[in-house]
Amino acid sequence: MATPVLATQHVSEFAADVRESLTKPGQRELPSKYLYDEVGSALFEAICLLPEYGLTRADTRLLQEYSADIISRIPSPVRVAELGSGSGKKTRWILEALSRRQLTYYYPIEISPHALAACEKELAQIDLVSVVGYEQPYLEGLRSVAEGRGERDHVLVLFLGSTIGNFDRDAGDTFLREVRATLRPGDALLLGTDLEKAAELQLLAYDDPAGVTAAFNLNLLARINRELGGGFDLSCFRHEARWNYSDRRIEMHLRSTCRQSVRIPAASLRVVLDEDETIWTESSHKYKAQEIPEMAERTGFRCEAQWIDQEWPFAQNLLLAE
Ligand SMILES: C[S@@+](CC[C@H](N)C(=O)[O-])C[C@H]1O[C@@H](n2cnc3c(N)ncnc32)[C@H](O)[C@@H]1O
Repeated sequence: MATPVLATQHVSEFAADVRESLTKPGQRELPSKYLYDEVGSALFEAICLLPEYGLTRADTRLLQEYSADIISRIPSPVRVAELGSGSGKKTRWILEALSRRQLTYYYPIEISPHALAACEKELAQIDLVSVVGYEQPYLEGLRSVAEGRGERDHVLVLFLGSTIGNFDRDAGDTFLREVRATLRPGDALLLGTDLEKAAELQLLAYDDPAGVTAAFNLNLLARINRELGGGFDLSCFRHEARWNYSDRRIEMHLRSTCRQSVRIPAASLRVVLDEDETIWTESSHKYKAQEIPEMAERTGFRCEAQWIDQEWPFAQNLLLAE
C-alpha cells in the first residue's frame, strides 16, 4: 500500500509547486528540479556528451587526474555522500581512489529515481565499494547519512557538475551553510563550479545546434502534460538561453510563440500566456575562481585546494568543514 500513497504525495507536491511558480506575479517560473523525470534525466546524459557542453568533460578530467590528491587530504575512514548524483559516472574516479585505501560506503542522494537506479548500477561494480542510494532531497538525504555514521567516520560530500549554480547566489550560501550544519569539523565538501568564459561559448553550451538542450527544457512541459494532465502544445513554445550579464548566469526560458490558454487540471490551474511571454525554468550561475574561497569562508568551510581545468574553465574545490 505504500507506493500509491507516495505517488499521490509526489503528484500533489509537483502540482502545488507548478501552481505556485506559474502564478508568481511578474516573471512566471517552473522549478528546475522537475526537469529530471525519466526522459529529462536521459536527455541530461545526452547533453553531457555534446561537444558544446564542455562542463562535464572538464569536471571528469579533474576528477580523473586529481582524485588521489583529493582523498589524500581527508583522513580515513571516509564515507562519501553525493548530492544529486545523476548517473554518477564521474564519481567512479573518487570511489576507485578511496577503495584502494579502505572499504568505502557511497550514498548517492537523488530525487530522480531513474538517475538513482542508473547510478547504483554504474558504481556497485567497483570492488570494495558498497552503494546505498537515498531517493530524497539533498539535505534530507545528507542528514540521514551523517546521522548513520560511526564515531570515527568522516563524511566527504560531493556536489559536482556545478549544480550549485542552479541556486541564486544568496540561496547558494544558505544551502552551503545548511550542508555545513550537518557536518563535523574535518569533514569535507568537494564542490564543482563552472567558471566564467566567453558569452558565446556559455550560450552554445545551453543552446546546442542539435536541439538536445531545447528538448530537455521542453520536456518539462511534456512532463506536466503526462503527470498533471496539462494541455501544453509544445509546438507553441521555443527554448531560449540567455546570458544575464549583471547576475552572471545563463537563464533557460520557454518562450510562448502566441497568446494561449493552458489548463493543468491536477493543479486546478488555467494560465493565459501572452505572445512572447516566457517561463523561466533554470539558472546556471558562473563563478570566478577567487570567489569560491570567499564563499567557503562565509559558509563555515575553508578552501583547502582548488584545481582548474585548462581546456574549459571549471574548478574543483575541496572545502574543509572548520
Ligand atoms: C545538473 S544534474 C547533475 C548530475 C551530476 N551530479 C553531474 O554532475 O552530472 C542535477 C541532478 O540533481 C538532481 N536534483 C535536483 N534537485 C535535487 C534535490 N533537491 N534533491 C536531490 N536531487 C536533486 C537531479 O535529479 C539531477 O540528477
